[in-house]
Amino acid sequence: MMLKLGVNIDHVATLRQARYPGLMESHNCEPDILSAAQSCEAAGAHGITVHLRADRRHIQDADVFRLRRGIRTRLNFEMGNTPEILGIALELAPDEVCLVPETREEITTEGGLNVVAQEVSLSGTVARLKGAGIRVSMFIEPDFGQVEASARIGADMVELHTGAFANAQGDAQHRELSRLEEASKRAHSLGLQVNAGHGINYTNVALVRGVPHLEDLNIGHSIVSRSVFVGLEKAVSEMLELMRIPV
Ligand code: PXP
Repeated sequence: MMLKLGVNIDHVATLRQARYPGLMESHNCEPDILSAAQSCEAAGAHGITVHLRADRRHIQDADVFRLRRGIRTRLNFEMGNTPEILGIALELAPDEVCLVPETREEITTEGGLNVVAQEVSLSGTVARLKGAGIRVSMFIEPDFGQVEASARIGADMVELHTGAFANAQGDAQHRELSRLEEASKRAHSLGLQVNAGHGINYTNVALVRGVPHLEDLNIGHSIVSRSVFVGLEKAVSEMLELMRIPV
């Protein structure tokens, strides 16, 4: 099975917001989010991922609805488990939702969702999303307890948090890789689709792609960063090429 790429384009919106905060309707508001998504698709990306944060620091409400109408591939909507964002998700009807932890102070999503501690509230959200025909993923640490809780509450998928792996070096990185491998095998044995994301770049993807049972990688910051030098289409196609090389 071929590993698929979802490109997280949040930071294209970060660049726009740096110059045009609150000016979404302005005609010269750039870079344009939908054009960015279409460049990713033209390069062969299998999906577009965005995170509508409660503080709206990058992606805005209007962006997600424009993407929903304008992209040809899958829309993966990352969200914190709040009534406000759940309402938007149900109206948006993305192909997939990935539930993520969210605090206002963090720079980016830190750590995975604690599904074990929030089984009751999360299972209600999962049921509502699935009832609307949306496939649901849990963004979790590569931990057996979290994998098992995700299966219990009816999630379709888990996205294993690769942040600790990406930050580690040498032996520590190989230990983190083993945790990802074991968690992936456990999730697969429970019937869950296994995805991975966070901190994956053009170097460490060579190790990540060897984790068994992986179906989708969600990659954002490194692709958008590389696009400054080579353009978004080339940045995406280079990543796809690295994902294809057999281990
Ligand atoms: N997957 C999830 C669930 C995330 O929250 C993020 C960061 O927003 C990513 C993937 C992408 O991470 P990065 O930008 O480090 O590639």
